Amino acid sequence: MKQFRYGALIVLAMAVLLAACSRQDTTKYLVMGTNAEFPPFETRGGPGGAEVVGFDVDVAKAIAAKVGLPLKIEDMKFDSLLPALDAGQVDMVLAGMTITPDRAQNVDFSDPYYKATQVVLMRKGDPVPTSKEDLKGRTISVQFGTTGDGAAAEIAGSENVRQFTSMLDAVVALMNSQVDFAVLDEQPAINFQKKNPADLELVRLAFDDEYYGVAVKKGNTELLARINETLAEIAADGRYDRFVDYWMVQMIGSAELEAE
Ligand code: ARG
Repeated sequence: MKQFRYGALIVLAMAVLLAACSRQDTTKYLVMGTNAEFPPFETRGGPGGAEVVGFDVDVAKAIAAKVGLPLKIEDMKFDSLLPALDAGQVDMVLAGMTITPDRAQNVDFSDPYYKATQVVLMRKGDPVPTSKEDLKGRTISVQFGTTGDGAAAEIAGSENVRQFTSMLDAVVALMNSQVDFAVLDEQPAINFQKKNPADLELVRLAFDDEYYGVAVKKGNTELLARINETLAEIAADGRYDRFVDYWMVQMIGSAELEAE
């Protein structure tokens, strides 16, 4: 009887130990999912040029500090991000991701942290469109699954939209005359244009305002609360403004992009 009790106790102790170990494993990092070709929000940079850096990374670091865990970044295709969140491969997505009703059905979004819009990139010297009408029936490159993808299809017809997995490839296709225009978010467009001023021109047409949010798995209210607290704190203590100044003012045009 006594022996049995000890046995049970040992089994119990091992179970507790195991649970503690596995819990520690899954909570060792706060994992951010992103698609690091969207300067200045996320791009490759740093001393060796291989690190994922950007505005979103700085915001994510602030969130990780709040949560009390080191940040780990998983770089993947843009359209893999929300499935990865759902599968528990990442804890949060920061990818200059626009809050849309469709996406909000599958994930929960934080408070908006950046106001954006779509713009048009074109080859320098081509006739400049003055309204969305001028894009009708013309070919447009986009990054697959982005709001720019949807906007371009609405304007030009989906048969005229060329979807690229990579946003850089979409811009390179424009520079190589494979399409007439590219539709993408304003800040990355500014970066690509400043990097290639002789080749690219940026055009603003009547696109809607968009708001970026941090996405978490549906129902992860605990993390979502920490994220919203962090967003409020960095806005109040000046960190947010410093991130904007560094990434949107000082670092403009630092994104790597070279046409093949
Ligand atoms: N804001 C756009 C969207 O939500 C584009 C985001 C692309 N982000 C990226 N990291 N490639 O669809």
